[in-house]
Amino acid sequence: MNIDLSGVLYSQLKEAEGKYKAALAKNDLENVKKYAKICANVERQLAQKVPDQMKAHIDKAKRWDEADQTAGTAPRKTVVERGERGSESEDDFSSFGDTQIQTSTVTWKDIGGLAEVKSLIMETVVIAGLSKPESIKPDKGILLFGPPGTGKTLLAAAAAGSLKATFYNVKISSIISKYVGDSSKLITSLYESARKHAPSIVFIDELDSITMSRDDDQSEASRKVLASLLTELDGFQDKKSDKLILTLSATNTPWKLDDAVLSRFPKRIHIPLPDKKACQEIIKIQTKGLDISQLDLENIGERSVNQHYSGRDLQNVCRDAMKSMTRRINKDIYDNIENMAELSFDELQKKTLKAGPLTMEDFTLAITRIKSPLTPKDLSQHEEWNKQFGAS
Ligand SMILES: Nc1ncnc2c1ncn2[C@@H]1O[C@H](COP(=O)(O)OP(=O)(O)O)[C@@H](O)[C@H]1O
Ligand SMILES: [Mg+2]
Repeated sequence: MNIDLSGVLYSQLKEAEGKYKAALAKNDLENVKKYAKICANVERQLAQKVPDQMKAHIDKAKRWDEADQTAGTAPRKTVVERGERGSESEDDFSSFGDTQIQTSTVTWKDIGGLAEVKSLIMETVVIAGLSKPESIKPDKGILLFGPPGTGKTLLAAAAAGSLKATFYNVKISSIISKYVGDSSKLITSLYESARKHAPSIVFIDELDSITMSRDDDQSEASRKVLASLLTELDGFQDKKSDKLILTLSATNTPWKLDDAVLSRFPKRIHIPLPDKKACQEIIKIQTKGLDISQLDLENIGERSVNQHYSGRDLQNVCRDAMKSMTRRINKDIYDNIENMAELSFDELQKKTLKAGPLTMEDFTLAITRIKSPLTPKDLSQHEEWNKQFGAS
């Protein structure tokens, strides 16, 4: 059953990692092996529970197996230090810990609604991927804009997942703020790496944080990052290359974008809040594996639209409803949580959290608890910008 246990698992992992490190420091081999085994086990469970991070967790589990098997045979960096970057590649770019180089396991089916947007992105991806006459220049970049939590990152991950492309998930703000001096070099090495690992999808999030207006260190770095990003975006257009490197960028505030940035993204796609039907699809995706036969999805969909829920809000609603359900179904555990807390991890592993049907009450309660941060003004601002500058 597909209950969200990832939070619990992450805290178990943290605890076991701490104990592993402590054992390693004391050269206590027995416990080094024990906690490496536990970490591997938890990583494998996380791989199941967090599908979009599946590969990263499986890789980490393998490293923990290795740590268990090689304990005491060679001095080594801890797995935690190596694993935290979530990167598989050994090139220069992976040394900048913020950006995750991943293979994405997200597929188009994981996205509810957005049918038109999906087919637009699919079209771009397919055309870019096909062998074609030299004179036909495919789009190299797409800008996704819309309120937060509407699935922009998810769309980029699905594009990468379907192409089996290397997925670079880059937050531009952290590049700028953390590597002020070196930021522009980072963009160059990002694209170098993307070429090396092509086909690649480079997802540049928070594009709006490239601001030119302020006159300080950050905006100096911003300018350099922009210049080097534009060089990369322009450069690919001219190079005769059959390597696919597609740049998808996203912003929640497109009106803050510089003209120079905008002009490099002639394809600008509005990602709106889900409509009633899309809300129902997202709820189905987010409750996959659970019994939803008692739910009036029409009704929940309608209420979700009235609440201005984004996909992320709906995810939170579903998680909240699932929590109510698990509490209800597993009274024996919840009523006994203090005793349960005394159990060791191994003993806990032997017990199972049961799942039952989700009910309308679970959802009604969740809807009263989860509030959309958006105002009608935020929404109309996106619509206005779309009318003026949106283009597909
Ligand atoms: N259309 C959608 N279909 C399914 N899940 C969605 C959708 N939109 C958002 N979500 C859920 O909300 C989370 C956040 O979405 P995300 O793509 O990060 O939003 P954004 O990048 O637009 O801020 C996703 O991981 C997913 O679980
Ligand atoms: Mg995002």
